[in-house]
Amino acid sequence: MSINNRIAKALILASSLILTANTASAAKFNIAVGDGGGGTQEALGKKFIEEFTANTNHSAKLFLNGQLGSEQDTINDAAIGTLDFSILAINNVTPFSPSVGVLTLPYMIQSLDDAITLTQGKLGKELIENTKRDAGVRIIGWAYSGFRVLSNSKRPIKTLADLKGLVVRVPKNEIMIETYKSWGVNPTPMAWSETFTGLQQGVIDGQDNPYITIYAMKFDEVQKYITNVRYLFSIEPLIVSESVFQDQNKATQAAILAAGKAATAFSAKSLVSGEAKIKAELTKRGMEITDPANGEKEWIEKATKAVWPKFYKSVGGKDKVNDALTILGRDKV
Ligand code: MLT
Repeated sequence: MSINNRIAKALILASSLILTANTASAAKFNIAVGDGGGGTQEALGKKFIEEFTANTNHSAKLFLNGQLGSEQDTINDAAIGTLDFSILAINNVTPFSPSVGVLTLPYMIQSLDDAITLTQGKLGKELIENTKRDAGVRIIGWAYSGFRVLSNSKRPIKTLADLKGLVVRVPKNEIMIETYKSWGVNPTPMAWSETFTGLQQGVIDGQDNPYITIYAMKFDEVQKYITNVRYLFSIEPLIVSESVFQDQNKATQAAILAAGKAATAFSAKSLVSGEAKIKAELTKRGMEITDPANGEKEWIEKATKAVWPKFYKSVGGKDKVNDALTILGRDKV
């Protein structure tokens, strides 16, 4: 983050603390958003604010585009209570609460239905408890953003051989780093807030994120090719600082939880139509979209074989992985 951004962030957070302290009844909450406008994170945030403010006398404001810090930084800020809420990708939560990694094992989630089943059922409840315990933040809603497709500025990628030599940015997330390694690439871990500039300056050639995020971040200005890989379905939680949550009275807490639920339902409904429109728009803007060869077979085999066993321990054991597979109606490993 630049010095100007740091100063702006400090001023925003300080004014919010003064406001919260001085107004026992009506507080103003800040919500950090990692992506730019037009994506699923903003949609989730807007719906949350609409529901929350309709049922309380509080207000809340979104700060888009990482204005309040990188996604991983917002977890730290929320944990110590200097930030109220954040909307960020699940892969940026995993480093703080490793069991959440079960949602980001490559090819674990194979559809929107799988994503909804895992996040809103028994396993999701357990992950929410773990995140509270490990990271000091409470997940109160989920945005569903679609598969993270691979974009790059160099060439169409169909096979793992095509990937060779490409400099690909990944979040600072061990599961994703190991996935690329299994595909024969040594990826470049980089904060989300630095990724657009990295692509623009050619420090990195490519990255992966959902269509909706590529659109919201205007990556079509710096990327030409997209490959429809389906190794990771992007889920983007809305988190609240647990200490901020505990400081609220019962009615406000209930309103926060209800608004998070309503925003989640809204996100699941809007993904399908939104994604199709955006894909068409990105094609119109000149992006070339390709499918991986042979139904992605070699990508799937390499990643699941090499990566899953490395993370059984951190996600809570092989049994936890099998629980998830059973919930999804798939064979155990
Ligand atoms: C990342 O790649 O770091 C995140 O997925 C970006 C996002 O939150 O959209």
